[in-house]
Amino acid sequence: MGDNVLGYCTLGAYAEYVVVSPEQVTAKPESMPWDIAGGFSANGVGAHMCLREMKVGPGDTVLIHAAAGALGTFAVQLARARGASTVIGTASEANHAYLRSMGAIPVTYGDGLVKRVRALAPDGVDAALDIAGDHALRASVELVKDKNRVRTMVSDELAAELGVPAVTPKRSNAQLAELAGLHAQGKLKLHLRQALPLAQAAAAHRSIETGHGRGKIVLRVESTS
Ligand SMILES: NC(=O)c1ccc[n+]([C@@H]2O[C@H](COP(=O)([O-])OP(=O)(O)OC[C@H]3O[C@@H](n4cnc5c(N)ncnc54)[C@H](OP(=O)(O)O)[C@@H]3O)[C@@H](O)[C@H]2O)c1
Repeated sequence: MGDNVLGYCTLGAYAEYVVVSPEQVTAKPESMPWDIAGGFSANGVGAHMCLREMKVGPGDTVLIHAAAGALGTFAVQLARARGASTVIGTASEANHAYLRSMGAIPVTYGDGLVKRVRALAPDGVDAALDIAGDHALRASVELVKDKNRVRTMVSDELAAELGVPAVTPKRSNAQLAELAGLHAQGKLKLHLRQALPLAQAAAAHRSIETGHGRGKIVLRVESTS
C-alpha cells in the first residue's frame, strides 16, 4: 500500500486516477522526479520494444530517425545501453549538440541523407528505426541489408509494402523495471521540453504538432483531494 510507481496506459492517461494491471507498473526510483516518471514509460517502452525486435546489440551501427524527439531520445540512449558501438541520429542542426550529448553522431535529415549516413558509416548500418515517416523508412531500407533489422513507428503501410516487419506491441513491467534501473544508474535521461498543467493539454498537443522539438512534453495532474 502506498508505493510510488510509474507505468503506462495505452489510452486514457490524461486523468488524476487510472486503473491499470500490475503488469503496467513498476517501482518509481526515489531519485526520479515525478515529471520525469510521467514522461518515462510509454515512449521508453516503445523504443525498448523496437530495439529488442531489431536485435540491437554490442558492436552494432544503428540509425535512429527523428532522434531528438520524445521517442528518439529514448531510442538513442537505449541503443547505447544495449552496446551499439555507433548510433547515428537524424535531426535538424538545432538538435545536433543535444544528440551528441546522448552519445549519438548527428546527421541532418532531408535530401542526400543516405549519402551522408554512408559517409559516417562506411562499413554499413546494421539496424535502423524510423520515427519520422516514409522518407526515413525508405532510407533505412536502402541502408540496412537485413529488413528484419528495420522497424517503423510511423509508416505501417509502407513497411508492409517494403517487406519490413511490423512492431509487435509487447509491453511488460519487466521492460519498465529495466528502464527505471537505467535511469537510476544515470544511463537513461529524459530531457523535458515542457511540463504543463492538464488543463493545458491542448497547448501541449499544438506544440507536438509542430513536428519539431527536443525531448518530451508532460502534463501535470494536480491532486484535487
Ligand atoms: N506507433 C507508436 O506506438 C508510436 C508511439 C509514439 C510515437 N509515434 C510516432 O512517432 C513520431 C515521433 O513521435 P515523437 O513523440 O518522438 O515526436 P516529437 O517529440 O514531436 O519529435 C519529433 C522529431 O522529429 C524530428 N523531425 C521533424 N521532421 C523530420 C524529418 N523530416 N525527418 C526526420 N526527423 C524529423 C524533429 O527534429 P527537429 O526538431 O530537429 O526538426 C523532432 O525531434 C510521431 O509520428 C508519432 O506519432 C508512434
